[in-house]
Amino acid sequence: HGTSRINEKGHLEIGGLDTTDLVSRYGTPLYVYDETMIRQTIREYKQAFATAGLRHQIAFASKAFCCLAMCRLIDEEGLALDVVSSGELVTALEAGFPAERIHFHGNNKTPFEIEQALNAGIGEYVVDNFHELRLLGAMASEKGMTANILLRLTPGVEAHTHEYISTGQEDSKFGFDMTSDMAERAVRAALNTEGVRLIGLHSHIGSQIFETEGFAVAVEIVSKFYGECVRNFGAEHLYKLNVGGGFGIRYTEEDTPLPASHYVEAIASAVQGAFDQLGLAYPEIVIEPGRSIVGAAGTTLYTIGSTKDIPGVRKYVSVNGGMTDNPRPALYQAQYEAMLANRASEASEEIVSIAGKACESGDMLIWDVALPKVQADDILAVSCTGAYGYSMASNYNRIARPAVVFVQNGQADLVIRRESDRDLLSHDLIPARMVSEAL
Ligand code: LLP
Repeated sequence: HGTSRINEKGHLEIGGLDTTDLVSRYGTPLYVYDETMIRQTIREYKQAFATAGLRHQIAFASKAFCCLAMCRLIDEEGLALDVVSSGELVTALEAGFPAERIHFHGNNKTPFEIEQALNAGIGEYVVDNFHELRLLGAMASEKGMTANILLRLTPGVEAHTHEYISTGQEDSKFGFDMTSDMAERAVRAALNTEGVRLIGLHSHIGSQIFETEGFAVAVEIVSKFYGECVRNFGAEHLYKLNVGGGFGIRYTEEDTPLPASHYVEAIASAVQGAFDQLGLAYPEIVIEPGRSIVGAAGTTLYTIGSTKDIPGVRKYVSVNGGMTDNPRPALYQAQYEAMLANRASEASEEIVSIAGKACESGDMLIWDVALPKVQADDILAVSCTGAYGYSMASNYNRIARPAVVFVQNGQADLVIRRESDRDLLSHDLIPARMVSEAL
C-alpha cells in the first residue's frame, strides 16, 4: 500500500521522490503526504460501497487534516466534507469546495459560525443539542431559509480499538442520549422547529476502531429509532443515516485494522438487515472517515541533533520537532514506527528513544525504536503521521509549524508553507506605553 520504497541509494522514497532531496529542498521538520495513497484509499471506500450497491455518501472528516489543497483533493474525488469550526469552514469555502457537500459538526457551534454557514448555504448541519436546534432554527428562519439537519445521537455504544462497550446511560458531551427519552424529545423538537428540516440521524462511536461489531450494534439501535421517527413521530423527510467515522489504521505492528471494504460491508449489511426488518426503504448511508483517509499517507521527516546515552538505561535521540508537530504520543501514549530515511537499507544496531525538542519531559515521540547507529544530521522518518498531526500542531515554545508537501508521480508540491519567525510574531502587539526608543 502506498508509494514508499527504498531506492538504489538506500534512501526512503515517497511518491517517486527521494526524501533526502525533499529535505534539501524544504527543510525539516517536514510533513510529506503520499497523494496517490490518499486517492487510492478513497477509491477503496467508493469501490466497497459500489459493490454493496447502496445509496451512500463519504464525507472526509477534515479535523484529521485540513488545508486548501486537501479540500481541493477531496472535492476532486467527489467526497463530502465535515467541518467543525469557522476555520475549517472558511478553508473549504476558500478552496472552492461546493457548499452543498459541506456538513457542519460540533457540540457548540457559535452564532457567528452558524451565520457563516447559513450565508455560505452549506448542505447540512449535524445538530448536537437543544440549544443549537433553537439557535439554528431561529437564525435560518430569520433569513427565510430552511437548514437541513441530522440529529447526532449517542446510542450507548462506544468502540475503542479491539472492543466495543454498550454503556447504559451514555456519559458523553456529544449528542442526544438514546437511553433516555432525550433523543425522542429532540426529534419532536426538530419537527416543531421552524427553519430546520430533519433529513437524517447521526452517530459516531469512536476512533481508531479495529472491529465491525460496534458499528453493527450502533446501526441496529439507530435504525430502530429511525423506524420510530418515520412511523410514529412523523419525520417524513428522513433519508440519511450517518454512522460516523473511526476506522482504524496501522501505526505499529500491534495495530490490526481491517481493510476499508470490511467496515463498509459490515455497515451496509447491518443497515440492510435493520431496514428489511423494519420494512422501510434503505436510507442513504453516510460515513465520515478522517484518520483512515490521511493517516497512513503522512510521514514526518526530522533532522536528528543531540543524543544522550545513559549506559545501561537508555539512549535519547533528539529531533528538531516533537509534540508541537505531533502531540499524539504525549496526549494519548500513541505509538509510531520510524526509520532513518537517509540510511533506510542499513540494519538496526541499537534501540533508542526519540525525544522532541520542547521543554517538557513528556515530549517523547517514540520509546524504544530499533535504528542503525544514529548520527547527528541523520533524517528520521516517522510514518503514519498524516492524521491529527498537523491539525493538532501547536506553537508551544514558540516553535514554528513545519511545512507540508504533497508528493505524487515524482512531483512535490508545497501545500502549506513553513511558519516563519514573522508568522510567529504577526499577532503580537506592544502597548504604546511600553514602546522604547530602542524599538
Ligand atoms: N465523525 C465525528 C463525529 C468525529 O467526532 C470524528 C472524530 C470523525 C468523524 C473522524 O474520526 P476518524 O475517522 O478520524 O477516527 N485527535 C484524536 C482523534 C479524535 C477524533 C475526533 N472525532 C487522535 O489523534 O487520535
